[in-house]
Amino acid sequence: MIIHHIETNSCKTQTHDLSTMNHELQIVTTADGSKTIYNAQVGEHYHSRHGALQESLHVFVNAGLDYFLAQSGAQEASILEVGFGTGLNFLLSAAYCTNHQIKLQYTGIEAYPLTAEMMSQTGYEQYIPTALWDTYLQQYPDALKNEVNTDAHTKLQVAHCQLMDFTTIQLYDIIYFDAFAAVHQPEMWELPAISHVSSFLKPGGVFVTYAITGNLKRMLKSLGFSIQKIPGAPGKREMLRAIREL
Ligand SMILES: C[S@@+](CC[C@H](N)C(=O)[O-])C[C@H]1O[C@@H](n2cnc3c(N)ncnc32)[C@H](O)[C@@H]1O
Repeated sequence: MIIHHIETNSCKTQTHDLSTMNHELQIVTTADGSKTIYNAQVGEHYHSRHGALQESLHVFVNAGLDYFLAQSGAQEASILEVGFGTGLNFLLSAAYCTNHQIKLQYTGIEAYPLTAEMMSQTGYEQYIPTALWDTYLQQYPDALKNEVNTDAHTKLQVAHCQLMDFTTIQLYDIIYFDAFAAVHQPEMWELPAISHVSSFLKPGGVFVTYAITGNLKRMLKSLGFSIQKIPGAPGKREMLRAIREL
């Protein structure tokens, strides 16, 4: 039987121009000295003002990726992120995986991609190997069109679309849910969005996000997840980790 290559990830529509949102954005410094972006149109920061680096490491790398690898004993991981933004969660995950010799396949969904120039002003090169940073900035424009290798073990693709327009035939090990807070973007935290993104997670897969609410817990339970309430990043008492039941 001949198996033809088919595109695994795709967007039903790509409606947003790279430049439309970028003039609303300012780089600001958070409490741990790391930078984030403030989106004046939404009235929201891309990361916790208590520390962008601390939040990304705590919520996504440690509670998501490291937890999944420790539980499963896997030597590879696939991650789907909602709200790719600056790519900080990708960069720290890629650096972690390279350090631990883990193969990583990473897909970010982003409705309003930043320009590489904006990313280059974040200062995130301090937290990762220089080679990864250089390759990332160079490959990012291509990653918006197709999957690229940022090193021998790491593949990245950024799907330029709204979450609800994203589709894939692939199932992922981990979901990083990093949408703007519900007060600014309530639809991202409602059942259609949570159910849509959850459908791309493998049984046994891990869903992590920086926030926790009764509503989110109820929705995920109804979708067949078991819920863990764990300590949050600085500035947040708790965060949510949910495991898709087998
Ligand atoms: C809290 S920020 C994410 C920060 C990002 N993870 C980082 O490390 O920089 C939320 C992101 O979601 C994006 N976004 C907003 N609405 C979206 C949608 N409907 N679908 C996908 N991404 C969306 C925003 O443009 C923004 O980049």
